[in-house]
Amino acid sequence: MNNNILIIGASGQLGKYFVNLLSKDNNVIASDIIPNSTLDCQFQLLNILDYNSLKKTIKTNNINQIYNLAAILSAKGESFPYKTWILTTEGFLNVVKVSIECNVDRIFWPSSIAVFGLNSNLEHVLNDVPMLPSSMYGVSKLACEKLMNYYNSKKLLDIRSLRFPGIVSASKPGGGTTDYIVDMLYSALSGNEYKCFLDKDRILPMMHIDDSVQASIKLMNIDREKISINSPYNITSFNITPDSWRNIIDTLGYDLKVLFEKDFRDKIAQSWPRNIDDHLFRNDVGWKPKYDSKKTAKSIIDAINS
Ligand code: SER
Repeated sequence: MNNNILIIGASGQLGKYFVNLLSKDNNVIASDIIPNSTLDCQFQLLNILDYNSLKKTIKTNNINQIYNLAAILSAKGESFPYKTWILTTEGFLNVVKVSIECNVDRIFWPSSIAVFGLNSNLEHVLNDVPMLPSSMYGVSKLACEKLMNYYNSKKLLDIRSLRFPGIVSASKPGGGTTDYIVDMLYSALSGNEYKCFLDKDRILPMMHIDDSVQASIKLMNIDREKISINSPYNITSFNITPDSWRNIIDTLGYDLKVLFEKDFRDKIAQSWPRNIDDHLFRNDVGWKPKYDSKKTAKSIIDAINS
């Protein structure tokens, strides 16, 4: 493949997994506003909102693909709504502008299940449905979905995207509504009681980090003609409640105590899908997840322990 790839927001939950997989066949430069010496590739301090530095990095390194992972997640975004809107939308447009000016071939940008809302038929969420998101994170992601559709439809750019559910990884997310899924694993390993901020029966879609990264890279590597839509694809692996997740962890030999004390994040979660229909992505791209809930818990516990 040998693309010159810039990953923006590489110090977040997903960064190192994208770096590790993409570095196998490509030249990768990771960037973030937070310094990071743990990534296995060249790293550069870069703020997506600083257009001149972004352009300089892309020109100097002859970048032909961008993975834009910069984000403030849904729960934290409610404390900083203006900042969340600016980071998501101006960041997105800076990447768009620089990509047009510097002839970047392809952009990957994750959207989120946060774009859906109470009007989206949450029991079975199809790819193209009414959407009234409840969080500023969701509002700003949805605005960028419309921009993505605009630039793709006009053939001005090639932007590819998946609506990520909660991602289970050994790296901690931070500031998200789905964070409990990782936090519970850490509590089980340390023997601490976990205080869960969601209702014990709140169902949300989740997936293993490797499934999400592999799906993203698969989407980036297929011919554009195989992609039947100009906006993001739904993607999912398994639906689970905090109580069932605790049970799964216990079947792996732990005795996790969970105190359920829901807060404002449960309200956000209530407006998100309980079940997602992702057959469009599976059919177009030929993908399916490798990890169910139990395999995911076991694999991430092993990864944290290693
Ligand atoms: N994991 C994200 C969050 O909880 C959703 O995309 O905000």
